[in-house]
Amino acid sequence: MQKNALIKLDEKEISCPVMVGTEGEMAIDARNLRRDSGYIFYDQGYGNTGSCESAITFLDGDNGVLRHRGYPIEQLAEQSEFAETAYLIIYGELPSAVQRKKFGQMLRENAAIDTQMMRIFDGFPRSAPPMGMLTSIVSSLAAYYPHLATNNFEKDLANFDLTAAMAISKIRTIVAGIFRYRHGLPFMHPKDIPFCDNFLHMMFSEPYKEYAAIPEVTRALNLLLLLHADHEQNCSTSTVRMVGSSGANLFTSLAAGICALSGPLHGGANSAVMQMLQTIHDEGDDGTRFIEAAKSGAKGNRLMGFGHAVYRNFDPRARIIGHACDVVLNKLGKSDPLLEIAHNLEQAALKDDYFISRKLYPNVDFYSGIIMRALGIPTELFTTMFAIGRSPGWIANWREVASNTKGRIYRPRQLYTGPVKRDYVPMAKRG
Ligand code: SDX
Repeated sequence: MQKNALIKLDEKEISCPVMVGTEGEMAIDARNLRRDSGYIFYDQGYGNTGSCESAITFLDGDNGVLRHRGYPIEQLAEQSEFAETAYLIIYGELPSAVQRKKFGQMLRENAAIDTQMMRIFDGFPRSAPPMGMLTSIVSSLAAYYPHLATNNFEKDLANFDLTAAMAISKIRTIVAGIFRYRHGLPFMHPKDIPFCDNFLHMMFSEPYKEYAAIPEVTRALNLLLLLHADHEQNCSTSTVRMVGSSGANLFTSLAAGICALSGPLHGGANSAVMQMLQTIHDEGDDGTRFIEAAKSGAKGNRLMGFGHAVYRNFDPRARIIGHACDVVLNKLGKSDPLLEIAHNLEQAALKDDYFISRKLYPNVDFYSGIIMRALGIPTELFTTMFAIGRSPGWIANWREVASNTKGRIYRPRQLYTGPVKRDYVPMAKRG
């Protein structure tokens, strides 16, 4: 039986239907609110607003639940790998052996970047921020593959499989290329090897010395990318949907998502966490100074890697990565003083009423930097690594927008708070 929300406004009663998701989430369908009442809802940051219906990822922030197409992140982390989870997120089902083989082949076949595109790198200073380079070069994919980026959903969806594989594979290659360029190293071209091995090869091989990753390293990298693969309507994914809703092609929409991810409150947090841990280490502090500063509430003093717009419990990804840090470091025979500092900081914050009362727990970024550092990935690339991991989620969300024949361009409203109507004053009379 259809449930309705009744909104009493002045003498009016507006009835809005209630929508129910497959996990029992409820929403009030306000699509006709302005038409029927002249009112809009105000929800700064959209924290209480559903912008879409999506079948990709379910997030229960109160209970720390994360599932991709119904599969718990804990099971995927334990039994899957990045490319397989990317396939699941994009196509909705775990691939058969044949489908997984074909997907892997498409990732390998589309790993290289066009020789002329390599020249874009030279347009940047060596010190250019990697995320700025990444968004520019990813955006150029639409120029190099215009037949895949027609800005016509029907045409672009007809080539979706190739475009999706190309985007995931080339974003990975471009990140490795950015690292090589920034350090004045020759580009390492991709080989016909698995996704993560290829990334590590393109990052660390020398002209006459192949980098051969040990299984523990590629397994850790697979886990890291898998844990970043999608996360409901976060800032960057919503940006991809927003841009895609205008009819923009996948490459252009991904470039916009990369811009959104670059902010320190979103994807930029993983490198900010490492800077925070390094400062604590260098000062010989026990983290108390950072925790006290974070409690001031000033946005600039926040405990990076802590808190979340949705989770009011542990981010399940943080638990998995936190555990993996110990395993990876042991397997690599490495130790990292920052890991102990991170554990101590976590314990101290979790006992502090400021964090407890605000339900602030470690998020995915709190430990991810420690694993990346153990794998030899420099801090400067941490946010671009997040972009590689998130590319399947962005692609799956763009595909939902492009495939929705009843979809609409994203066009939120506002509450105007500027000057009311006034007449123009000629310069001579302005004083
Ligand atoms: C990601 O959305 C996603 O899914 C994102 C992500 C993904 O996979 O895509 O999960 C990835 O972006 C993880 C978050 C990475 N960012 C950080 O770690 C930066 C530090 N964290 C925050 O700045 C903050 O927690 C946010 C931005 C993540 C969430 O901010 P909200 O939901 O807007 O929280 P808020 O600003 O309303 O904070 C509520 C209260 C405030 O205090 P009061 O005003 O109530 O006194 O909690 C405080 C905030 O000051 N607070 C923090 C804090 N985070 C929130 N205080 C200290 N340290 C923090 N980290």
